[in-house]
Amino acid sequence: MEKTNIAIVGMGTVGTGVARLLLDHGDRTSRHAGRTLWLKKAVVRDLSKPRDIELPDGVATDSIQEVIDDPEITVVAQLIGGLEPARQIMLDLMEAGKDIVTANKALLAQHGPELFTRARELGRSIAFEASVAGGIPIIANISQCLSANQIVSLEGILNGTSNFIVTQMDERGASYDDVVRQAQKLGYAEADPAMDVDGTDAAQKLAILSHLAFGATVDWADIPKVGIDGLAADDLKYARQLGYRIKLIGSAKLAEDGLELSVGPTLVKKGTPLAEVRDAYNAIRVIGDAVGPVFYHGLGAGQMPTASAVVADLIDTAVGRTRLTFQTLEYFSIDQPPRVKLRD
Ligand code: NAP
Ligand code: HSE
Repeated sequence: MEKTNIAIVGMGTVGTGVARLLLDHGDRTSRHAGRTLWLKKAVVRDLSKPRDIELPDGVATDSIQEVIDDPEITVVAQLIGGLEPARQIMLDLMEAGKDIVTANKALLAQHGPELFTRARELGRSIAFEASVAGGIPIIANISQCLSANQIVSLEGILNGTSNFIVTQMDERGASYDDVVRQAQKLGYAEADPAMDVDGTDAAQKLAILSHLAFGATVDWADIPKVGIDGLAADDLKYARQLGYRIKLIGSAKLAEDGLELSVGPTLVKKGTPLAEVRDAYNAIRVIGDAVGPVFYHGLGAGQMPTASAVVADLIDTAVGRTRLTFQTLEYFSIDQPPRVKLRD
């Protein structure tokens, strides 16, 4: 069977999950790809750091250059977080002829136009299903399955850590600080959990979805946002007594004069689908003019759900059917985006 040599850059929560799927379940990837996805290199920052995965001899390296210089490696899962050196590494890998799969939404929300433009110039692809809503295939759905529609609105729970925190505080009386620590331990939170609880992560995901759904170039930092970091246990209690739960909702709606965007804690009536989304689950309700409302629900954070999305992208990239083809990339460099009106 033919093989595609893969490298992973960044062996943290997600990178470790991706390595597990590639090493332990090669049968699945072979079945769907019709070829072997061979983990040739895994780039770590510190070779002496203990890891909860045993890599085959010769796979771990602390040299990104080894991957860049290896012409046999054609697809790279770039799984380090933050902006730099992630941005430069992605550019260097693409210059060296590698196709990219990433889960880094902060990087795409900030530098998407530059990265996708360069990918197009170089004839490379960037697949990023895991960057929004973890294991839920929302990117593929919006950009492919619903492509016959004008999306009218999308709204939902886009940050697993915040939803975990409000669920644990509301339903189990846990303290805010304790649950934040638990979310970090469980691998849900960003390296800096402030990004989760202040609404930044949800705003970055909403900006990416808005590119895909509406063709709008949105600077995530312009989206009005409030996080759950200011919520008190009493807020959750009074909401509950009134028959509501408080959820961090990201919302993008087409209005007559543009696109209305916001991220913030929102009262959601108990018993409705969004109110019953618990812990690290995410949910997104999309309304298309032809399909009507569609509801997506699944784990939005965590090692294996996120790895599931990354490996699906690796398979698609290896066989040259990257879901996000150049048509989609055009959205990121659209010259005249629709007018975007931001709600105060
Ligand atoms: P993480 O656990 O912090 O892992 C990141 C890894 O990258 C760390 O192991 C880190 O090494 C490594 N790293 C940093 N700089 C490096 C460099 N220059 N060379 C090689 N390795 C380097 O983060 P994560 O949770 O796996 O998240 C990775 C990305 O996926 C982020 O962009 C995140 O937003 C996104 N994401 C995460 C989830 C989730 O549920 N965790 C879900 C969806 C998307 P050290 O161990 O030495 O620090
Ligand atoms: N920190 C993110 C979250 C990871 O909690 O949703 C998934 O993108």
